[in-house]
Amino acid sequence: MKSIVIQQPNALVIEERQIPQPAAGEVRVKVKLAGICGSDSHIYRGHNPFAKYPRVIGHEFFGVIEAVGEGVDAARLGERVSVDPVVSCGHCYPCSIGKPNVCTTLVVLGVHRDGGFSEYATVPAKNAHPIPNEIPDEFAVMVEPFTISANVTAQVKPTEQDVALIYGAGPMGLTSVQVLKGVFNVREVIVVDRIPERLDMALRSGADRVINNASLSLIGELETLKIKPTLIIDAACHPSILQEAITIASPTARIAIMGFSSDPCQISQQGITSKELAIFSSRLNANKFPIVITWLKEKRIDPAKLITHRFDYQQVVKAMEVFEKDQTRCCKVLLTFNE
Ligand code: NAI
Ligand code: MN
Ligand code: ZN
Repeated sequence: MKSIVIQQPNALVIEERQIPQPAAGEVRVKVKLAGICGSDSHIYRGHNPFAKYPRVIGHEFFGVIEAVGEGVDAARLGERVSVDPVVSCGHCYPCSIGKPNVCTTLVVLGVHRDGGFSEYATVPAKNAHPIPNEIPDEFAVMVEPFTISANVTAQVKPTEQDVALIYGAGPMGLTSVQVLKGVFNVREVIVVDRIPERLDMALRSGADRVINNASLSLIGELETLKIKPTLIIDAACHPSILQEAITIASPTARIAIMGFSSDPCQISQQGITSKELAIFSSRLNANKFPIVITWLKEKRIDPAKLITHRFDYQQVVKAMEVFEKDQTRCCKVLLTFNE
């Protein structure tokens, strides 16, 4: 089989490898589609602190089960599945309270262990989530990015009364817009970014208002509009954003961060306590595949609005380049694995 391997930072090769045999409790998935995510690019460029090389990247993938390991029901052969990249021990403290996404021995497919940019991948059977027939392949491959928003919203519990503000109109900001509007019916969703084309995508994904903070001050603009967000999601993740979010937040607002920067950021206690703000963080997803699959079935979210490019996996270098350089036109780039 062919696998997309990052041998070391900046060295991507399509390597011939042995088709893997599923171990006990695993299935082998014949991959049909995979999505490129920022973290794939970070591993490729040597900017991911968790990655070990060589690595088959890819943690957003969909395919068909075509072999099962010992102890896995053979009835699963032929099942269409989306794969949850979060592999956890099942018994540590976070696992025991339903947070396998922060398992003390967390393994993420495509980061700590070989992932889905490959013609075949072996994964734990319980990570392979069946996809109902009415959900098309291209939607199934988009489950993982929506689980990130499902995890964020599980933390901050949006309500219909919220006035939400999302920093960033990249894939993470846009999935969050769709979830806030389509699933939680949030009254008003405002998206802030510096790229006009991305703000247009936010409007197409259901945002009620967009603000370009390259040309004007967000704090000033919200004051003029008399808007105090009650829910803020930082899907841009610059370390300076948290203090600004604290400043613009309504009393008793919830703020969610999801960035991994190791740079310090300066925040004041007063800004948080005086308004009794709640600050949440969110990493990957805690068992959110089933709920996102339900949202897809109920057509509450629409991945089609986010898919901008498709490439054969053999064109992966080009696909990565487009993904990294063309932020004005690019959102989700899919890789297709055909016969
Ligand atoms: P992206 O880079 O495509 O999008 C980020 C957007 O934020 C860009 O459009 C950029 O113009 C905008 N932006 C940057 N600074 C800004 C600012 N100060 N104000 C307003 N807009 C600003 O990235 P993507 O894929 O959407 O991911 C967003 C972030 O989420 C990344 O930092 C990524 O590491 C993080 N992430 C976290 C996950 C988690 O589980 N915690 C999972 C996936 C991504
Ligand atoms: Mn992803
Ligand atoms: Zn664990």
